[in-house]
Amino acid sequence: MYTVDLAHETDFAGFRTAARRLVAHGVKPDAVVWRTGGGTDDLFAARQDLPPPTVAETEVRVPRAFVPLAEAVICHSAPERLSLLYRILYRFLSEPRLLEIASDPDVAIARRMEKSVGRDVHKMHAFVRFRELATPDGPHFIAWFEPEHFIEERAAGFFARRFAPMRWSILTPRRSIHWDLESLAFGPGARREDAPADDAAEALWLTYFASIFNPARLKVKAMTAEMPRKYWRNLPEAALIPDLIAGAEARVQSMIAAPPTEAPAHHHRLRARGETLMETAAETDIARLRAEADGCRRCPLWAGATQTVFGEGPDTAQVVFVGEQPGDKEDLAGRPFVGPAGQVFDEAVAEAGIDRTLYYVTNAVKHFKNEPRGKRRIHKKPNGAEIEACRWWLAQELQIIKPKLIVALGGTALQSLLDRPVKITELRGQFLEFQDDTTVFPTVHPSYLLRLPDPDLKARERQRFVDDLKRVAERIGVLA
Ligand code: URA
Repeated sequence: MYTVDLAHETDFAGFRTAARRLVAHGVKPDAVVWRTGGGTDDLFAARQDLPPPTVAETEVRVPRAFVPLAEAVICHSAPERLSLLYRILYRFLSEPRLLEIASDPDVAIARRMEKSVGRDVHKMHAFVRFRELATPDGPHFIAWFEPEHFIEERAAGFFARRFAPMRWSILTPRRSIHWDLESLAFGPGARREDAPADDAAEALWLTYFASIFNPARLKVKAMTAEMPRKYWRNLPEAALIPDLIAGAEARVQSMIAAPPTEAPAHHHRLRARGETLMETAAETDIARLRAEADGCRRCPLWAGATQTVFGEGPDTAQVVFVGEQPGDKEDLAGRPFVGPAGQVFDEAVAEAGIDRTLYYVTNAVKHFKNEPRGKRRIHKKPNGAEIEACRWWLAQELQIIKPKLIVALGGTALQSLLDRPVKITELRGQFLEFQDDTTVFPTVHPSYLLRLPDPDLKARERQRFVDDLKRVAERIGVLA
């Protein structure tokens, strides 16, 4: 028997070094005992004479896909994960394409472990609740969380990016994670009592949670699947849930009994035109697509954003406006074009005689790409890969809505629509034939106007933008 002592539970570098040596020496999986937590740098604790090598260590090859799988699986809390990983690695000697056999029991277990770790990371991102602690250095935010697996390091980057301007610590029974505004540090585990139990902001959060709870939409099963009960004791809002559930039926009855609220004027206009209201289309394809996009991980941008910002507007709209990506305000509100660029957009479309609420407004990229700088999050332009990854959502939206006209606001939108990088200046103001009887009309992005420093130029460019939109309005008139 050979015993390997890894320095800690997720010591991937140690695992890789030891596993490579063992494989090179032809040591069979059932002849190895894997141990963790010894805190030693000596992988092979006692002197253990390995059999002579069958291949050089540098010749031990693994499929590229094994590394991300192994990095996830090593975070699983099952003690057998290390022997499983070594067994898979050893089997590569004779089965180099093993990972492609999804039904293989070892591969299937590893994939299940990978999924479970991913879910745990997702839950940690969603359910960590910070409480503010006043310290001589200013506020320090502390959270207590009990992950199922060894995911602290894996999950930490998200919090560093998302809460970059705050000093924070997340305490777990096994590890503590600390952010000092510059770097992450990891320390020993803690106890629940080490985190403060309450803070001033909590009352506000509870009021907000109770007010957004919609009894008519209550699905206890779905709710407990998304927010499993084991997380409840660390979520302040969880204390409200039993009462909210118990009172849900009575609230639904009183909602039914209450007189209907009068719809805003534009809803009547839509009805008169025979178009569907977004609000009444809760179960439409767009609503389902939006729900799917909530969990989008097609590119890494989700990790630095608060939420997916999906398109909004009637799903039968004849015109779709496509922007670049949500900004800071949109990221927080979860709605497109509600920040400064949205204001420029709203004023310009109104001046051109277009009622924005009649049309669908969306973005080429659905997550806010940003870079933390001090307390601010600075907008960063999405790159080609991110635009490409998100094209899928835009294509689905267009597939469902089937607009007659698509207005591309800026280069990113146009690149996504035409599937190639294009200069907006080359195609601005032209009605371009697009697929399925649709026309694309490129113009500038409203934020371009915000960035112009010279007031005269700004006024001229704004007028050009309004003129472009007037041509869109004329086309809409023809379409109607
Ligand atoms: N810029 C965009 O392209 N979209 C938004 O939603 C906001 C700003």
